[in-house]
Amino acid sequence: MSDSQTYTPSPEFTSRAHVKGMDEYRELYQQALREGENFWAPLAEKELTWFKPFARALEWDPPSAKWFSGGRINACYNCLDRHLLTERRTKPALIWEGEPGDSRVYTYEDLHLAVCRFATVLKDLGFKSHDRAIIYMPMVPELAIAVLACARLGIIHSVVFGGFSAEALRTRTQDLNAELVITADGGWRRGKEIRLKDAVDQALEECPLVRQVIVYQRTGSALNMTPDRDVWWHERDERLSTSRPTEVAAENCAAQDLDSEHPLFVLYTSGTTGKPKGILHTTAGYLLQTTLSMRWVFDLREDDIYWCTADIGWVTGHSYVVYGPLSAGATTVMYEGAPDFPAFDRWWQIVAKHKVSIFYTSPTAIRSLVRQGEQWPNAHDLSSLRLLGSVGEPINPAAWEWYYRVIGKERCPIVDTWWQTETGGIMIAPMPGAIPLKPGSATLPLPGIEADIVDSRGEQITQPNREGFLIIRRPWPGMARTIWGDPRRYEEQYWSRVPDAYFTGDAARRDADGYFWILGRVDDVMNVSGHRLSTMEVESALVHHPAVAEAAVVAKPHDVTGQAVCCFVTLKAGDWDHGKLSTELRQWVAREIGPFARPEEVRFTDALPKTRSGKIMRRLLREIVTTNAVTGDTTTLEDITVLSRLSTVHEED
Ligand code: WT7
Repeated sequence: MSDSQTYTPSPEFTSRAHVKGMDEYRELYQQALREGENFWAPLAEKELTWFKPFARALEWDPPSAKWFSGGRINACYNCLDRHLLTERRTKPALIWEGEPGDSRVYTYEDLHLAVCRFATVLKDLGFKSHDRAIIYMPMVPELAIAVLACARLGIIHSVVFGGFSAEALRTRTQDLNAELVITADGGWRRGKEIRLKDAVDQALEECPLVRQVIVYQRTGSALNMTPDRDVWWHERDERLSTSRPTEVAAENCAAQDLDSEHPLFVLYTSGTTGKPKGILHTTAGYLLQTTLSMRWVFDLREDDIYWCTADIGWVTGHSYVVYGPLSAGATTVMYEGAPDFPAFDRWWQIVAKHKVSIFYTSPTAIRSLVRQGEQWPNAHDLSSLRLLGSVGEPINPAAWEWYYRVIGKERCPIVDTWWQTETGGIMIAPMPGAIPLKPGSATLPLPGIEADIVDSRGEQITQPNREGFLIIRRPWPGMARTIWGDPRRYEEQYWSRVPDAYFTGDAARRDADGYFWILGRVDDVMNVSGHRLSTMEVESALVHHPAVAEAAVVAKPHDVTGQAVCCFVTLKAGDWDHGKLSTELRQWVAREIGPFARPEEVRFTDALPKTRSGKIMRRLLREIVTTNAVTGDTTTLEDITVLSRLSTVHEED
C-alpha cells in the first residue's frame, strides 16, 4: 500500500501555493520543532485581530493548557468585523442553497448585520457571557448566524446535529446545564420535513433549567409554542426594527472583549462509554488553528469559492464551514439537504452554479456517488474546481482515484485531512503545493504538530510500516481543553496512556517516506459514514427495549458507510417473532440515538461470548462479522461452545 503511486503537485499549483515545495515544508516543520510554543506566537499576532495582545504563548501544566494568556479577543469579531475594514466588506461570506431550491447570498456586511441583530435579540432576552445555549437547527444560514451571535456575546454554544433524537438532545442539554435552546420548526431532507421543534419539546420535559426556546421558522408547519418559554426568531427580530433602527441595533451589539481562553463551544462526541463527551474548545488557539489550516491545507486565495459539505452539527462544520473559512475571509458555501435530492447530481449542480473552487467532503459520500455512475458529475461543468479534500475516515484508493479522475479531472490535488473533534483543526494533511500525494495516506503532520507512533508500552516505533498507536507529542493551540464537567476523564482518556503525549485512539503506521497511514480506532468507537458512534451507546439503547436481555455491538465493514452497526442480542424469555423484532430494534436505536445510528444487522443468539470475569469479548464478535470465523486467542472465553452457536446464529435481513 505504501508503495502505491505518488502524485507530485503540478508546477502551476506549486508556484501559486502558500507553501511552495517540500523544502519549504521541511524548513517550516523543523522551525516549529525547534521553537516549540514560540513558533505559534508570531502566527497568532499576524493571523488574528486582538483587542489586547497576549503576554505568553503557552502555559502548560499537563494536561491543562492556556494558549496566548493575557490576550483579549473575540471569535465573531475575527470572523466578521475585521473584514469590514477591507475590500471584503462586499465580498460574499456565505452562499446558501436550500434543498427545495431556495438560495441566499450574504456578503460580509450582510452577515455581520444579521449576526448583530440576532445577538441583540439574545441580549434583550437577558443572555450573556458564560451562559450556555444548545443550537439544534437545520443547515440554514440562521444556524451559522446563531453560532456567531453566541460567540459574539461569549455565550458557550453546543450545536447538536439535527439528525440526533430527542433523547440525545436531552442528555446533551442536561449535561451542559443549558438555559437556552435555539431551534427551528424543521428542515428539509430528501423532500421530507425533519421536525426539530417536536424533538425539542420532548427533550425539554426533563430539562427544567432551560428558560427560553427561540424558534426559527423554516418549514412553516404547525407546532406548539409553550407560552413564556418559546419565542419566534422573526417576531423578536421584527420587534427590533420597530423599537430601534437597524444601525443602532448593530452598534449596540459590539463584540465582547473576551479572554483568549474564553470557552467558545462544547461539542459532544462519542467515547468508549455510553455517555458522550462534551469536548470543550476555547477562543484564540482554536481560531488560530482553523484559520491557519485554511491557508496551509486548503491553500485559500482571495477569489476562492470554498465548499465543505459537512453539517455544522459535527466538528468539521464548526471548523471548516463557519470559524476557519470566515476568519480567513473566505466565501463559504452551505447546503441544507441530501446529495442525492432531487437527483444524484445535486452537489455537482451546486459546484457549477457557484463556481466552487475548493471542495471538501467525506469518503463515504464519495463512495455513495461512485455507485451512481460518472454520468451525474459529467453532466456539469466542474472546471472551477482546483482543490479537493477528504475527511472522516481513511479514503480507500478506489474512491480516491475516482474523486481525482472524475471530479478533479486529474488537475486537482486531494488533501486527505486527519484530525478529530478533540484536535479542533486539521493535524495531518498534505500542504498541497508541497507534498506529493499517496492515495489513502494523510501524508505528513502540519508544522507544530509532532505526530508519532508508539507501541503498547509507549515506546516509539521507528521501523517503517509497523502498526502502533498514533500520538501527538506536545500541545497545540487548537487542542481541546477539557471534557465539560469531567476533567478527570479528559486526563485519563487523552493524557495518561503515554507520558507527556496526547493519545488519539487511532492506530497508524508510517511508511519509509515518513507518511502516516491511519488504520482506524483502537477503542470501542465505530465510524459510520464518518460519524463517530460508540458501541456502548448502541448497546445501552438496545437494552432499554423490553425484549432485550443483553446486547453486544460491533462494527462490520461496509462498502459505502465504511463501517456498519451489527448487533448481537439475547432476548428475555418469551415467544418472539425474530423478523418483526429485528426491524423494531433497528428502528428503536434510530429513535434513541438518531437515524444515522440505525443498525445494519441484528443477530439473535442464546448467549454472548464472555471472559470469565464477565466481559463481553467484542473482538471475537468483530471477527465473526468480518470473516465469519474466529482465529484469535479464545483461552479467556468462559464457555467455548458459545462460539459455534454464534456462527450459526439466527440472522435477519
Ligand atoms: C476520527 C475522529 C475530523 C472530523 C471528522 C471526524 C477518523 C478522521 C480521518 C482521515 C483516517 C480519519 C479517525 C479519528 N478520521 N479523519 N483523514 N483518515 N481517519 O471527527 O468524529 O472526532 O472522529 O475519525 O479515526 O480519530 P470525529
